[in-house]
Amino acid sequence: MLTGNALRQSFLDYFVARHHTQVRSSSLVPENDPTLLFTNAGMVQFKSVFLGQERLPFTRATSAQKCLRISGKHNDLEAVGRDTYHHTFFEMLGNWSFGDYYKEEAIGWAWDLLTREWRLPKERLWTTVYLDDDEAERLWIKVAGIPTERILRFGQKENFWEMGETGPCGPCSEIHLDRGLEACDRKMVKGHRCLVNGDCARFIELWNLVFIQYNRNDQGSLQDLPAKHVDTGMGMERITAVLQGVLSNYDIDYMRDLIRTTEDLAAKKYGESAEQDLSFGVIADHARAVAFLIADGVVPSNEGRGYVLRRLLRRAARHGRPIGPPLQRRLGRRLDFEAPRAHHRLCLGAG
Ligand code: SER
Repeated sequence: MLTGNALRQSFLDYFVARHHTQVRSSSLVPENDPTLLFTNAGMVQFKSVFLGQERLPFTRATSAQKCLRISGKHNDLEAVGRDTYHHTFFEMLGNWSFGDYYKEEAIGWAWDLLTREWRLPKERLWTTVYLDDDEAERLWIKVAGIPTERILRFGQKENFWEMGETGPCGPCSEIHLDRGLEACDRKMVKGHRCLVNGDCARFIELWNLVFIQYNRNDQGSLQDLPAKHVDTGMGMERITAVLQGVLSNYDIDYMRDLIRTTEDLAAKKYGESAEQDLSFGVIADHARAVAFLIADGVVPSNEGRGYVLRRLLRRAARHGRPIGPPLQRRLGRRLDFEAPRAHHRLCLGAG
């Protein structure tokens, strides 16, 4: 089995072999950017390059970026605990062109990596393009040979990517995988139909290719950027699930390691009931978010980033209650996650 770690390396190696410079993940706390509470995408550390304010000694980059989607324009908090493919904290695998290659290479490499290197079945892949992006549609047909009926057009909400209220943005093209009817998690919902962008787990978005060409300014209008760029992002937990042949992101190797730790501490086993499994999942998701936030210097508090951290701890603790009483006994005292002082002690490792 390809481990998550091996998959990350395989992604980075693929782009390094195509002359991309491997860049380290930046902090979850964006540097010098008051417009964002947390790093929500791989492109955040390159914002000033896209805007033409900074030049790097290379024009192609690749990275595995720590991301947190829990505030502002990209907030998946409520989906965690409801489905098995959204996270607060996740890693985003990406490749970038700073005024170098554009749509043809971005599409060609994404298709090649997914279908030749990782052997995903071509006939199960669908793509979407922005309403008026005839060029991207033409390229999907030319470079990937996708039949037109599996190339769908969507508008602003699905196929125009923006990092926040302001900043670099542009039309995007997404790759979705049809995991088959058995993957649908809304079969029991009356009138539900499985569709691309249809809000069930059958068609899963794997990779987003953004063609950055505008800046959204403070007045809300779009200005052309001095050059055109590529910004792609693939959720590592999703592609790992696909390549490891599991339907839930919580069943991938490194998530199961975390769940095993919770099992060891609690009296319950993962896999006994769907409701309980969601709680195991929420705890795994939030534990990662909390750990990486603390590692990047955030501590629980009553406001801003620290308050978000505190809310994550509380939410994880709430999910711990139905599966966790033995853990509390083992620690020999009651864990009171409502008390801020207890938060501090726990998070600083003194509790
Ligand atoms: N910025 C885009 C996204 O987050 C592609 O990386 O989806």
